[in-house]
Amino acid sequence: MTVETTIRAAITGVHGHLPDYVLDNAELARIVDTSDDWISERTGIKERRILKGEGLGTSHMAAEAVRGLLARTRTSPQDVDLLICATTTPDFVFPSTANIVCDMVGIRNIGSFDVQAACSGFVYALTIATQFIGTGTHRKIIVVGADKMSAIIDYTDRATCVLFGDGAGAVLVEPSPNGCGIHDTIIRSDGAGMPYLHQKAGGSRMPPTAETVGKRLHYVHQEGATVYKVAVARMAEVAVDLMARNKLTPESLDWLVPHQANRRIIEATAERMNLPMERVMMVIQKYGNTTAATIPLCLWDYEQQLKIGDRLIMAAFGGGFTWAGAYLTWAYERSVGRFA
Ligand SMILES: CC(C)(COP(=O)(O)OP(=O)(O)OC[C@H]1O[C@@H](n2cnc3c(N)ncnc32)[C@H](O)[C@@H]1OP(=O)(O)O)[C@@H](O)C(=O)NCCC(=O)NCCS
Repeated sequence: MTVETTIRAAITGVHGHLPDYVLDNAELARIVDTSDDWISERTGIKERRILKGEGLGTSHMAAEAVRGLLARTRTSPQDVDLLICATTTPDFVFPSTANIVCDMVGIRNIGSFDVQAACSGFVYALTIATQFIGTGTHRKIIVVGADKMSAIIDYTDRATCVLFGDGAGAVLVEPSPNGCGIHDTIIRSDGAGMPYLHQKAGGSRMPPTAETVGKRLHYVHQEGATVYKVAVARMAEVAVDLMARNKLTPESLDWLVPHQANRRIIEATAERMNLPMERVMMVIQKYGNTTAATIPLCLWDYEQQLKIGDRLIMAAFGGGFTWAGAYLTWAYERSVGRFA
């Protein structure tokens, strides 16, 4: 929907967290029948991070990202008035990971909830935050995208285990300080895509049993070729729609911030937008597909290069199928204001 009501929301800070353990392609080639050449050529991924440690779930990474965000933006936990966590790998079915993260970082008595839209989750959650700021009811919202994909990846399935990694990225969303911010968002879905990308067991349709565990049904099931085709079509569709709706030419755009699933999907999206790759954020080589964390991790990685007024389009695609996008102008610079 076009955001032309009331108060413009803006991202006013970003922070990320990546676990220390680096799982590179060479190590994966010792686990499954694959090679650095195959993974690099087909996906662009060289390495990804894995969260190790007894009892550590998605909340651990999300809380680290949120703590860093609070420190960098000099925001007190008492001043945050909503926290939304986008994740497909919550610590528990319930309570929500958002609830747990609030407790871990000392944020009390506010609304918090998870958003489940697979790899589009961060843009979905950002869209929700934009509405809460727009109506004037909330002034400091944290949106965190976090996933511990290693918890649901089958490390005997070479077609999926090479793709994913663990990580978290958080942004602060506030009323715009200068007119820059989120101008337009799109969220879409098609549940007919379920068979091609889902986790078969563990939910209410097929609760966990010894048999479901034995049959390895608690892992990501993906039909890669179908997902690839739909991902290219939908990511490009949402990005091109946002350009048309907001009268943006390729020349007037500064950055594409794409979900990082596969370098070839990103390149195809940029090509359909007529955007050169120098203006496309890319971190997939270092982190793989971190699901809801890819877009905030891109922003975190490229933050030093972003200038006030830069025009960005975010585009994401994920299980569901879901796809989503946002058009925003960047509202702050690392070297000025409270970031000096
Ligand atoms: C998974 C993906 C990289 C596979 O690439 P692809 O070029 O489509 O490869 P295919 O699935 O056609 O498989 C080609 C061959 O490589 C093999 N292969 C699959 N994974 C492999 C691996 N890690 N190492 C070596 N060979 C592998 C397949 O078994 C197949 O062999 P075969 O021809 O003997 O049957 C690609 O389909 C993809 O990226 N899909 C989208 C995934 C995605 O984005 N998911 C998240 C959405 S948010």
